[in-house]
Amino acid sequence: NEQERLKYRVNILKRAYEEEVRKDIKHMKNIAQMLRLYFTIAVDKAFPGLEDFPVAVAPTNNPKFGDYQCNVAPPLFAMLKGKVAGIANPRQIADAIVREFPKSIDVIEKLEIAGPGFINVFLNPEYLIEETRTVFLHGALPAPNPCKKRVIVDMSSPNVAKEMHVGHLRSTIIGEGLARLMEYLGNDVLRLNHVGDWGTQFGMLICLLQEKFSNYLTGNKQLPVSDLQTFYKEAKKRFDEDEDFKKRSYACVVELQSLNPEYLKAWNLICDVSRKEFTKIYERLDIKNLIERGESFYQKRMETIVKELDAKGLLEDDLPEGGGALQGIRKIMHPPDKSLPLIIVKSDGGFTYDTSDMATIKQRVEEERADWIIYVTDAGQATHFYSIYKCAKRAGIWDPTKVRIDHVGFGVVLGEDKKKFKTRSGETVKLADLLDEGIKRAGDKLKEKGRDKEMTQEEFNAAMTSVAYSCIKYSDLSHNRVHEYVFSFDKMLEDKGNTAVYLLYAYTRIKSIARKAGVSLEQLQEYGNKSKITLAHPKELKLMKTILKFPETIEKCAAELVLHPMCELLYDIAVYFSEFYDSCYCIEKDSKTGETKIHMDRLLLCEATANVLKQGFDILAIRPLHRM
Ligand code: ARG
Repeated sequence: NEQERLKYRVNILKRAYEEEVRKDIKHMKNIAQMLRLYFTIAVDKAFPGLEDFPVAVAPTNNPKFGDYQCNVAPPLFAMLKGKVAGIANPRQIADAIVREFPKSIDVIEKLEIAGPGFINVFLNPEYLIEETRTVFLHGALPAPNPCKKRVIVDMSSPNVAKEMHVGHLRSTIIGEGLARLMEYLGNDVLRLNHVGDWGTQFGMLICLLQEKFSNYLTGNKQLPVSDLQTFYKEAKKRFDEDEDFKKRSYACVVELQSLNPEYLKAWNLICDVSRKEFTKIYERLDIKNLIERGESFYQKRMETIVKELDAKGLLEDDLPEGGGALQGIRKIMHPPDKSLPLIIVKSDGGFTYDTSDMATIKQRVEEERADWIIYVTDAGQATHFYSIYKCAKRAGIWDPTKVRIDHVGFGVVLGEDKKKFKTRSGETVKLADLLDEGIKRAGDKLKEKGRDKEMTQEEFNAAMTSVAYSCIKYSDLSHNRVHEYVFSFDKMLEDKGNTAVYLLYAYTRIKSIARKAGVSLEQLQEYGNKSKITLAHPKELKLMKTILKFPETIEKCAAELVLHPMCELLYDIAVYFSEFYDSCYCIEKDSKTGETKIHMDRLLLCEATANVLKQGFDILAIRPLHRM
């Protein structure tokens, strides 16, 4: 019966949070989520039968309205108006909810009803202090995850023999951030690099290879080509201008596709050159565990999937418009809706990008047993993936109720002129050159401030590289990924405002405070374990409330697969830290006695702040420095 069921559910919820409170839990608690839970229980109790009514709790911007606000009463009133006796306005609803709000909850100091029935939540300073203590002692740990998922992040994915460009940089940086976020949440993450390493372009590359380095089969293992881009351009030129070369190139494609070992070797040599370039970039950007599994990996599986689709009667013959009979008939598959059909088999019998992604989805669902697949590519590929999902579902390869799939699209990178990001001479910008320039610019900036004079050469080099890479990553991640963004070294290297430089400085400064006070981490830990902590200054409270938003920010990032909320939080923390530090002395000198007084409680707050920043940096793949 309805009433019983409800009571049962409320009891379970109640026990869950009582457990939370009682247990000595070392992880950071998601305050917004806890409040949501308490309000849900209160709504359940006050108005039984409404357990599914959505209850939102949001942080406020104005301390007058408390720290969080719950606006469930007005919409609830709109629904219950005239149906429940004695309810004449939303404030009465709010009253009833507040009355039923679980008592003896240590998170809350008080609830206040304001305006049209908004419920303002004021957090309990004692609770904030105890949470800050936990963060100091144990770091910004996530709650244990009992439903660990196998998450595949398809990221980076450059193409062999074509330059890895800024688009791939975004896919690498965003993909890595999401992978780290998923790992932080306790999932099992597989990073896959879906390299474009197969296709007709290899025909002309191999053809040129045979011409220029006829001894490639017997010669040393490395291809004497350092710049594949130029090699590619030369091959393309020959292909376009020389009929005979073109013919031979086609023949090479056929040989490669029939897996002739000689041609496979040539293909391998070419891929190796690219691989070396890619690997260097990944090392520089601190990308680990990225497994290369390019399009070639799915060759056999493509044949299988085509047979499967054909057997299921899902392929249709199609004559490309304007192609005429000469071009021949290709095989396509229609998604169940009006979206773009996939080209599964070309008229020459070859497979396409579409075919490879159909085979890929099947492999990941069936062999990798993925629970969740995340594709990180430019937003322009959204229609491609949409058709892939629809067709995969139609073919029975993918069941959306069992495996979650997301396409994480991102906007294009623009130059400072707001046009496509190019070099002065109009070429695509090479990633390695971009990173080099970043280091040079970061070095200049640091020298401007005379930092080079205060550090050893080694420290300076470390600072320069870390600043450059951090800035490149942070300026990408701090923008909402769906928008295009302007790549500007000048902006990202500014030491004020929401930049990595500002955050890195804040971190080194915080880490130096205890050192300057002459208090070791051990001493502070011992103090943190035993002592009563008093932090009551408004700036101290504000800082604590901000660092304790870490779990809800993680929740938001994971829900929307974005990273800019994390950047915003880290920036807020740095700003509120500096406000705190300006108003609250950590080390004080008594003007009369000349004695220095060290505020251990504040040092502890500093270290807790550093712990949260550090955890945030980790997720963004930013390495903070001890000196800069
Ligand atoms: N190589 C592709 C490109 O450069 C991206 C591949 C993305 N992954 C995938 N499974 N289709 O645009």
